[in-house]
Amino acid sequence: MDLQALNAVAEAMVAPGKGILAADESTGTIKKRFDGIGVENTEENRRDYRELMFRAEGMKHVSGVILYDETIWQNAADGTPLVELIAAAGAVPGIKVDKGAKPLPGFPNETITEGLDGLGERLVKYYERGARFAKWRAVIDIADGVPTWGAVKANAHALARYAAICQAHQIVPIVEPEILMDGAHSIERCDEVTRWVLTTVFNELFEQRVALEGMVLKPNMVISGKKAPVQASVEEVAQRTVAALKATVPSAVPGIAYLSGGQTDEQATAHLDAMNRIGGFPWKMTFSYGRALQAAPQKAWSGKKENVPAAQAAFLHRARMNGLAALGQWEAAMEKVAA
Ligand code: 13P
Repeated sequence: MDLQALNAVAEAMVAPGKGILAADESTGTIKKRFDGIGVENTEENRRDYRELMFRAEGMKHVSGVILYDETIWQNAADGTPLVELIAAAGAVPGIKVDKGAKPLPGFPNETITEGLDGLGERLVKYYERGARFAKWRAVIDIADGVPTWGAVKANAHALARYAAICQAHQIVPIVEPEILMDGAHSIERCDEVTRWVLTTVFNELFEQRVALEGMVLKPNMVISGKKAPVQASVEEVAQRTVAALKATVPSAVPGIAYLSGGQTDEQATAHLDAMNRIGGFPWKMTFSYGRALQAAPQKAWSGKKENVPAAQAAFLHRARMNGLAALGQWEAAMEKVAA
């Protein structure tokens, strides 16, 4: 393992003013998104959609792109591999390598993320194709009696095993323990579970001898459950998230790249901006958004060739806003526009 090279990639992924585009929806997940805009879920439509983003001006605010297995092997309409478009735009190509969250036996309402078997061999092929980082998402739900220690521990262990295998193959692991915001839980409960999960994850990373300088953490923000009667303010989300991470994430980690997790586009931007305005933490803080970057361009595109420029404009706008938020400059820029 060449840790200096891993660290250089990790630093590039969290470069100031840029963030990660999570375009790694599985075929099933992108079907849900395409259903929402009335687009048939064919291989060609999936390619055309990803290609329009990778050729967009918005890529200047993107440090890395997470791809799904199908996409990493796809070529653009003119035959250029999509990974080459990404690299030409100055971004690092990455790949989702987990095989999804499956029922965890013995734990009726919890899941374990699978995909460790054969991971090393898959990484060799992805590296040859141009991938320099990977992603693995563990899913933790909050409900009555959930999460349990057994499920937190199993998911944290799998994340650490994945991260160690990645580093052994010269791939930077994005470590993503996602605590879902789907329930009716309070922000206090999210805060408590986030601290518990992150502490467990970093214990496991230590035990598996993962070099923290060569990874990127992709956490949820500390936020109220979507169905909670009281919704915490932007300021409270920012304060609590920064405090929880400072208490649990070692400073050797180069950067934090948040998931958007079902927040509205603007909320995701406002929260990231508020955290960067607080400052005083040792890591870069940026975005690794899927929905919060793509909902607007998807709607603008709606599967029609003539809408490609409008979709690219929508993508540029969201990428630019989140790029500003990664610097803590979004709110000030908005006030200028309003004045
Ligand atoms: P969202 O930003 O839509 O949550 O997606 C990010 C991601 O990659 C989840 O694994």
